[in-house]
Amino acid sequence: MSDTLLVTGASGHLGRRVLDHLLGTLAVPAARIVATTRKPAALADYAAKGVTVRAADFENAAALEQAFAGVDRLLLISTDTLDRPGARLAQHKAAVAAAETAGVRHVVYTSMPRPENSPILFAPDHLGTEAALAASRLPGFTVLRNHWYFENLAHALPAALASGHWYSAAAGGGYADIARDDLARAAATVLAGSETGRHTYTLSGTEALTRDEIAAKVTAALGKPLAVVPVTVDALIQGMVVHGVPEPIARVFASFDAAAAAGRFAHVTDDYFKITGRRPQSFDAWLAANEAMLTGGH
Ligand SMILES: NC(=O)c1ccc[n+]([C@@H]2O[C@H](COP(=O)([O-])OP(=O)(O)OC[C@H]3O[C@@H](n4cnc5c(N)ncnc54)[C@H](OP(=O)(O)O)[C@@H]3O)[C@@H](O)[C@H]2O)c1
Repeated sequence: MSDTLLVTGASGHLGRRVLDHLLGTLAVPAARIVATTRKPAALADYAAKGVTVRAADFENAAALEQAFAGVDRLLLISTDTLDRPGARLAQHKAAVAAAETAGVRHVVYTSMPRPENSPILFAPDHLGTEAALAASRLPGFTVLRNHWYFENLAHALPAALASGHWYSAAAGGGYADIARDDLARAAATVLAGSETGRHTYTLSGTEALTRDEIAAKVTAALGKPLAVVPVTVDALIQGMVVHGVPEPIARVFASFDAAAAAGRFAHVTDDYFKITGRRPQSFDAWLAANEAMLTGGH
């Protein structure tokens, strides 16, 4: 295999882990890897290993074709632009179009579970990007519908643990979350593999856990009481706003619980095993390794 592989947004948390799996787990020679980012200096450590680092910003569509030149397979990491409605889909469409004109043969995209008619406020960005891939002249693409990261718990749990109260509008709905590093391994495996054609996978963890079940596990692990307090979606939004979260962002976060309450996150799949031949890390194992993150440490 001599394909040149490109990772966009490579300085993000997921992007770096993908680079690590390409170089380490999969032993892809650095000379075959291109990493694009808006901040090339942030990837100096990978450049030192022989990875080609190029500047690319999906907001600057005109420069993307050049950034993607000479690449066979490209991982398009969805951006974190949530503060300007419509902007993220435009960014992703620009990246898909540039991959097409640059002659990329296969694009891998990080989507979300069940984006169709989803309560998640940014689901149209992912659905629209999937549609852009389907409408493109790309020879092939793989959509990875990534479940939520365990790591997201680090946003809510430090404050919840401090008060002992975890406000939730998930109404007993399960979250089949997965470790971010496992998603990076899956993305790297598809990117470095030989899959052609059009594919969609949904990457979940090993089980769907309710907020009550997670709270019980966290309490047992940390020895700190944590009670889930059921609230409405509106009350959850107001609670975040009172604590300084801008309302549009609070609405996005609260829509996660609305989706869980509607049963949108509880589906456990076997797709991670199909791609990697391994089982993803369980929540128990992840918790044991990341206790400090949940109490606000690292
Ligand atoms: N499944 C989940 O639970 C979950 C949670 C959080 C986020 N996500 C999604 O998954 C993505 C990767 O997660 P992460 O943990 O790595 O997030 P992160 O650390 O916040 O990284 C943000 C990513 O967005 C890229 N980006 C932002 N603006 C861009 C632009 N104009 N052009 C090109 N790239 C741009 C960044 O690339 P550079 O900075 O290198 O340019 C970086 O890769 C996120 O961006 C988001 O779409 C999923």
